[in-house]
Amino acid sequence: MATGYFDQVAPEWDVMRKTMFDERIRDQAIAAARLAPGQAAVDVGAGTGFLSEGLLAQGVRVAAVDESEAMVAQMRRKFAGRTGFEAHKGDGLRLPFADGSFDAALANMYLHHVGSPAVAIREMARVLRPGGRLVITDLDQHDHEELRAEHHDRWMGFTRPDVAAWMAEAGLASVAVQGTSECCSTTTAHAGAVAIGVFLARAEVPTDRTVNESAPVVAAASCAPTSCSCSPTPP
Ligand SMILES: C[S@@+](CC[C@H](N)C(=O)[O-])C[C@H]1O[C@@H](n2cnc3c(N)ncnc32)[C@H](O)[C@@H]1O
Repeated sequence: MATGYFDQVAPEWDVMRKTMFDERIRDQAIAAARLAPGQAAVDVGAGTGFLSEGLLAQGVRVAAVDESEAMVAQMRRKFAGRTGFEAHKGDGLRLPFADGSFDAALANMYLHHVGSPAVAIREMARVLRPGGRLVITDLDQHDHEELRAEHHDRWMGFTRPDVAAWMAEAGLASVAVQGTSECCSTTTAHAGAVAIGVFLARAEVPTDRTVNESAPVVAAASCAPTSCSCSPTPP
């Protein structure tokens, strides 16, 4: 069960995370969410609050959710006394919020850990208000099966058309799944240093003014390890 793994690594997650991906992913995700100070966002599968920290810096109110007790404890320590922040231990597939609670929902490197990505996306869409934005950054499809054992990944990344289809099925409009300039780099016992492309998927809840008929924009994955701007962590 991945929760046990994340409970174990929670104290070191900030250090581990930096060897895999950095603030450039966060900056791109937060920009895509188009939030103004005072608006409310939910950070799902928040870990130690990587996205939450960037959102708080922009004056956004944040509810962070993670199923790992130890991750939630790390966030509560890190953001103690910060106004506009709350951390919840909970399942992203059953978020503890009413429909339409947030202006944006964001999730970084969460989707490949859940049992059902389609349900996870539908649940994030549920808690968005009309016009609210969903932004997901995660791994392009890859073949590093060893990450199942080493990082408790459930999905070997995703095809971008699949992610776009799940967003459309959740009733979202203006769906776009495109590449970032970034890779997730890690070292595996099997393959040594590897780098995997990272996509950014965005969509929004239709308002009266949004027609939910536009075809999703899906850019082909092209981030071969050699074309990533990151360098895999040396073995
Ligand atoms: C790879 S970490 C990413 C953490 C953080 N978003 C970041 O970018 O540093 C994945 C996180 O998702 C959480 N997670 C996995 N499945 C979950 C679920 N069903 N509900 C809530 N959190 C979940 C894990 O506990 C872990 O903290």
